[in-house]
Amino acid sequence: MNIQEIIAKKRDKLELSKEEIEYFINGYTKGEITDYQASALVMAIYINGMNDRETTDLTLAMAYSGDVLDLSSLGEVVDKHSTGGVGDKITLVLMPVIASLGIPVAKMSGRGLGFTGGTIDKLESIPGYNTSISIDVFMENVKKHGISLMGQTLNLAPADKKIYALRDTIACTESIPLIASSIMSKKIAAGANKIVIDVTCGSGAFMKTREDAEKLANIMTSIGRLANKETVCIITPMDEPVGYAVGNTLEVIEAVDILKNKYMPEDVKNIIEELGANMLLLAGKISNIEDGKNLIIENIKNGKAYSKFLELISNQGGDISYIEDTDKFERAKYIVPIKASKSGKIISLDALNIGKLSCYLGAGREKKEDSINPRVGFVFTKKVGSLVTEGEVLGYIHADDEQKANEILKQEIFVIE
Ligand code: URA
Repeated sequence: MNIQEIIAKKRDKLELSKEEIEYFINGYTKGEITDYQASALVMAIYINGMNDRETTDLTLAMAYSGDVLDLSSLGEVVDKHSTGGVGDKITLVLMPVIASLGIPVAKMSGRGLGFTGGTIDKLESIPGYNTSISIDVFMENVKKHGISLMGQTLNLAPADKKIYALRDTIACTESIPLIASSIMSKKIAAGANKIVIDVTCGSGAFMKTREDAEKLANIMTSIGRLANKETVCIITPMDEPVGYAVGNTLEVIEAVDILKNKYMPEDVKNIIEELGANMLLLAGKISNIEDGKNLIIENIKNGKAYSKFLELISNQGGDISYIEDTDKFERAKYIVPIKASKSGKIISLDALNIGKLSCYLGAGREKKEDSINPRVGFVFTKKVGSLVTEGEVLGYIHADDEQKANEILKQEIFVIE
């Protein structure tokens, strides 16, 4: 077997065998297959696709390319993952709620890449919070406090790390077999037996149409079944940013405000109810979804989820005075209002555009090694569907560079009709 033959087969739209897929993953992980050969094969998969059997074999080969955790000593861990989006602070809100309901939360999250944000970058905007704890500390935290959120510092699915970074540089991110194998390999390696996946769908997501989101959901559910991991996929909208804030510190502040019961954006409520209730169902805590939704909201209202969030942050070295008083967070130099250009109804606030503009302000990274500015981004005051009058403030740009803020102001980011 050699890699040239495998590339040629996929180039010619032929099906790859399990052995050929394993040969590629092992060779690439060890560095025996070069980046340019891997790029050619990944591009051929992107163009010609993979059937369900090939996608499953690819996922399993990637999952077992490094360490595989065993979380069984922690009880019924239900993991949660999102296929990514803009303003997506759902993990920050939902995981403390789940932990406050007695379900152990042992979650490894990623950093943002491209226009989508990542939970680890958001958590690191809290002074002192340590995302690179050891696996022993991680397990100990879950046993003692019922929750730990850390970065992907362990050698879990190293093949995915390499392929994910490669895909980003060769314009091969939006591919169903590549996304399904990337997500499911990490989830299998991360050790939970039950998984709820938020499959985002819309302009600010990898899946732009409902049809593609359903295809991705179906293949991930069937891979989960084959790998003995009960998997539920929930399709959620990502046409406008989730909630009102976009940007690392700004999203942490919004998540804290939600947990403090200051306000609850309707879209955040819908997503946490749906995902949370399915997590509780998988954990055997409830027998019907409506009861689960009520429990999720109840534990925000009674403050138990907020207490759990404080416990999580202080446990991992974070300074909770910033959570207790979010005015302590350092803000961007310029906070510039965005005003309505005319009266009417907001019909669009494009999530992809806002994600890209946030990157332009410095909130995201183009390349893996880039650093990010935690302070910058947007805080909107209106959502799609709102009626507005000319000159009314629709939100604020948070920028450290005034010229960039002025450039953004020239754009019609809210479409009003
Ligand atoms: N999230 C992942 O982990 N991988 C992808 O390919 C896309 C979203």
